Amino acid sequence: MKRIAVLTSGGDAPGMNAAIRAIVRTGLDKGWEMFGVHNGYAGLISGEIMPLGARDVGGIIQKGGTMLGSARCREFETEEGRRKALTQMEQQGIGGLIVIGGNGSQTGAYELSRMGFPVVGVASTIDNDLYGSDITIGVQTAMDVALEAIDRLKVTASSHHRAFLLEVMGRKCGYLALMAGIAGGAEAIMIPEQKTDPEVVAADLRAAYDNGKAHAIIVVAEGAQNNADGMAQYFQIHRERLGFELRVTKLGHVQRGGSPGSFDRILGTQLGAAATESLEKGNKGVLMGMIKGEITATPLDVVVENKKDLDLRLLELAKVLAK
Ligand code: F6P
Repeated sequence: MKRIAVLTSGGDAPGMNAAIRAIVRTGLDKGWEMFGVHNGYAGLISGEIMPLGARDVGGIIQKGGTMLGSARCREFETEEGRRKALTQMEQQGIGGLIVIGGNGSQTGAYELSRMGFPVVGVASTIDNDLYGSDITIGVQTAMDVALEAIDRLKVTASSHHRAFLLEVMGRKCGYLALMAGIAGGAEAIMIPEQKTDPEVVAADLRAAYDNGKAHAIIVVAEGAQNNADGMAQYFQIHRERLGFELRVTKLGHVQRGGSPGSFDRILGTQLGAAATESLEKGNKGVLMGMIKGEITATPLDVVVENKKDLDLRLLELAKVLAK
């Protein structure tokens, strides 16, 4: 009988639980013994590996976060750390590992797979910056949280004729900011992929004010050259030029804590099931993702060596629509 373990690593993302549930139940259905590793790679190194039955993953599909716990683990970046993890798995007779996570986590999965251990990745991060999946688990829910914030801010901004800088997560990727900004009809969007001159944003805000707009929303990605704090400082100095009074809201981890929407539950379920399927077929060292609506397996070396592009035409469109 095969013993397969699953772990979640890096930043948690809504829909991770759906993936865990699908992995455990499809694995059991294949006659395997299933195990959960607590607290990501840190737990793998310290041997926090517990058996998981069908009932253990009941009632979790609607919950945000990860029932297994997650961590960012520096020790696993070293060969010594990975060797300790391999020893722990060997001692428990684990013959395969499924890693649910984003860039750092899949780099760890790749390194483990290069050491000869059968690993399959599942694409999950709210940042949507992982090569090998057009959309990753958690993005949709995080985007909806950001969108709800924009909608709410617009209400109070209009009442007070204010501009709001809303900072959203995404690390070095502007996907969340761009898409939430478009869906929320933002007056300006600032992302790391394209340098935006604060002067230009100030002029756009002034134009919006002079054109009689009751509010202005500027969505700023945390990784943009000028983040919300930088922009707020700039606008403080040039306040009279904006017309609007300014307030700043940083969404931070609120974006990660949402209950997964239907898309993330279904994506998590599909990718989780595809991961056990892939292991069964002996197709290891791959990342399960979704490309052009199809579930795909991309070799982990290709995943870690490539950077995902953002369609900047959407930023140009957003500028036109903000008029
Ligand atoms: O990668 C997901 C993410 O939420 C990023 O958007 C953000 O920059 C980072 O994690 C925050 O990390 P932590 O939860 O460790 O503070």
